[in-house]
Amino acid sequence: MQDLFVSLSERVLLHQYAYFMIQSLPGFREFYPAECSLRNHIFRVWRGAVAAYGFVEYDTPLLEPLELFTEKSGDEIVSQLFNFEDKGGRAVALRPEMTPSLVRLVGARVNSLRRPIKWFSIGEQFRFERPQKGRLRSFYQFNADILGVEGPGADAEAIALLIHILCAFGFKAEDFQLRLSDRDLWMYYLEAWSIAEEDRIAVLGIIDKMARRDREETAKNLKPFLADAVDDFLSEVEGLVAIRSLAELEAFMQKARLQKRDLIEERLATWRELLATLSAMGLDPYFHIDLSIVRGLAYYTGFVFEAFEVSGESRALAGGGRYDTLMEKITGQALPALGFAMGDVTLIDLLSEKGLLPKYVEALDVYVVTSGEEPRNAALKDIAALRAQGVQVEYALKPAGFNKQFKQADQLGARYALIYGEEELARGEVTIRDCSKKASFACPHKDLGNVLKAILEEGYWPE
Ligand code: HAM
Repeated sequence: MQDLFVSLSERVLLHQYAYFMIQSLPGFREFYPAECSLRNHIFRVWRGAVAAYGFVEYDTPLLEPLELFTEKSGDEIVSQLFNFEDKGGRAVALRPEMTPSLVRLVGARVNSLRRPIKWFSIGEQFRFERPQKGRLRSFYQFNADILGVEGPGADAEAIALLIHILCAFGFKAEDFQLRLSDRDLWMYYLEAWSIAEEDRIAVLGIIDKMARRDREETAKNLKPFLADAVDDFLSEVEGLVAIRSLAELEAFMQKARLQKRDLIEERLATWRELLATLSAMGLDPYFHIDLSIVRGLAYYTGFVFEAFEVSGESRALAGGGRYDTLMEKITGQALPALGFAMGDVTLIDLLSEKGLLPKYVEALDVYVVTSGEEPRNAALKDIAALRAQGVQVEYALKPAGFNKQFKQADQLGARYALIYGEEELARGEVTIRDCSKKASFACPHKDLGNVLKAILEEGYWPE
């Protein structure tokens, strides 16, 4: 009866707890200290890698006018917007990506910015997607963009940075692949099939999903744009997306019934230049040609690319490309541009799969153990002075016994303990203990700051 009573009252409590405990929203993560530490690691690697390439950091508002995205990002992102009306009656949206805001920022000062403009950012993005493996509603993105440079040298720089970052996380060529494609070539190709300009983005959207749909469904979706030519088109496209080398691509373009031969020749020359540059950078093992990459966003114009875990079964690790016309659409001034973004969600999945997650260790320089009121007061004074010198110090916020304090020092991963007892203090000393070696020595109280500095910074320990 007693047991039943306890369990019933516990159940009532649990019920109340569950009632008051409002859960976080689907697709949004909570970051406990271990997750924050991992996030900091990821941000550190991103920042470290991009610094080597001379990019500088920028940021933009989390909340933007809805219009910025509805006009510029393309239907898929627009259908995923977190948008609402603010209290001033404005139509606003949480940013789903950085690119339109970046273009606005650069556009506003375009004539006074040093060229080339190489900017990066790290920030939270929001997309109302169905939460699933690799896709959440809130995620962090690293963006790197180069503005003001025409020609494939800039594309090569962005691709090299993307590969550099993945290698900096510890991945190897056998873990990931960058797939390289070309939106310009696709546009010429769709034009040759008499697909109207306003329909080309929609057709690319269908091609983008081709690998995940059966052939019949793809054919059905393409039918309104190609009518009876749909089977011929699909067969040729299957050949195009299977191409893996420049020689095959050149042969395909020769054979295909394409107008605009001179433009295609120009594109192929640009391909040769890009591939030669990437080769000279030693990047051949990390990428291949794959025209099945068309990118979901409307604004891309030239080379586009995505990085995937090597089996290709997971969602992309990163994606980007050229968007030479977006600046003019947003600001009225033309400026060539390109860039990419890498998210943290698929990245964490792959780091975990490959055993590359850093170990989460709680570490502390110094824990101060006290016994008695006078030693505690002396310790509080020293703690303030040590902290002012930048030493990381913790102590029991509520006076406690020796054992309890040592246990807490252990739980916090303290490297050293300072022991303030009545007797030590009467002798003008503080005991310094190396918690891992379990060795101690008495340090003159007046020298504590300097001795501790020598221990922490130079590994000093008396004979
Ligand atoms: P995106 O392909 O839409 O491109 O996103 C880039 C990366 O962000 C993806 O490869 C993925 O890692 C991550 N990502 C996107 N959506 C989600 C999601 N729902 N959950 C988790 N991760 C996600 C862009 O955003 C372009 N603005 C990139 C760009 C910059 N192009 C030129 N400059």
